[in-house]
Amino acid sequence: MKPVKLAPSILSADFSCLGNQVKSALEAGAEFIHVDVMDGHFVPNLTIGPLVVKAVKKIVAGSQALIDVHLMIEKPERLLPDFARAGADLLTVHVETCPHLHRTIQQIKELGVMAGVTLNPATPLAHLEDILGEVDLVLLMSVNPGFGGQAFIEHSLERIQRLRSMLDGRGLGKVELEVDGGVKPENVGKVVAAGATVLVAGSAIFNEEASVAENIAALRGAAYPRL
Ligand code: DX5
Ligand code: ZN
Repeated sequence: MKPVKLAPSILSADFSCLGNQVKSALEAGAEFIHVDVMDGHFVPNLTIGPLVVKAVKKIVAGSQALIDVHLMIEKPERLLPDFARAGADLLTVHVETCPHLHRTIQQIKELGVMAGVTLNPATPLAHLEDILGEVDLVLLMSVNPGFGGQAFIEHSLERIQRLRSMLDGRGLGKVELEVDGGVKPENVGKVVAAGATVLVAGSAIFNEEASVAENIAALRGAAYPRL
C-alpha cells in the first residue's frame, strides 16, 4: 500500500510568518500544500487569492510538493487562469458551483494543471458518476466548507468507502481520494482505512500545542494503526 499523502492547509497557519510555516511543512515532508480559497458567497468566509498562491509558490518551487488549490468560490471558471498563472499545480472546484462541470474540468486541463472535483458533505456521490474518468483527484469534504477547526462528520467514512469502491470498480485507482475537514490523529486511521490517499489537515498541523514537524509526525504515526 502506498503511504498516504499529507496536505497541510495554510488556513490555520500563522499568516504573520506564512513563508516559515510553509517551509516547516515542507521540511517535515508534506506532499501537498493545501490553499483554501473562499469568496464570502459560496462559503461565509473570505480568504486567499492568487497573490498569496504566488508567494507560497516561491517557497514550494524548490521542493517536490504540489500546490493544491481548493476553490470554494462561485463561478470558479473566471479565476482559473489567474490561479494557474500564480503557480497552482492542482485546481479543485466544487460541483455545487459548476453547472458546466465537464467544461470547467477541461478548462483546468487546458491550463496545464491537474484537475480536481469536490463535494459538500450532503451532495450525493452520484454527481461524480460522469466526471470521474476526467479528473486527477476527488476531494470529499468531511466538514461543511468555510472554516478550519470544525469536527469531522462521521458519515464521511461511509462516503469515503463508497467512493473508493466506485474508483476501484472502474479501474480508476490512480485518481487521488482526498479528504478535507476535521482530520486528526484520533480519526486518521479510520480515514485511511476507508480508502483516502491524501489527507488535508489544518488545525491538526498548525497549532500552538506542538511544532508543525511534531504534528505531521503524529498524523503519520496514527495513519496506520497496528492491528
Ligand atoms: C474548510 C477547508 C479546510 C480546512 C480544514 O472549508 O476546506 O481545508 O482548512 O481545516 P481543519 O483540518 O482544521 O478541519
Ligand atoms: Zn480545503
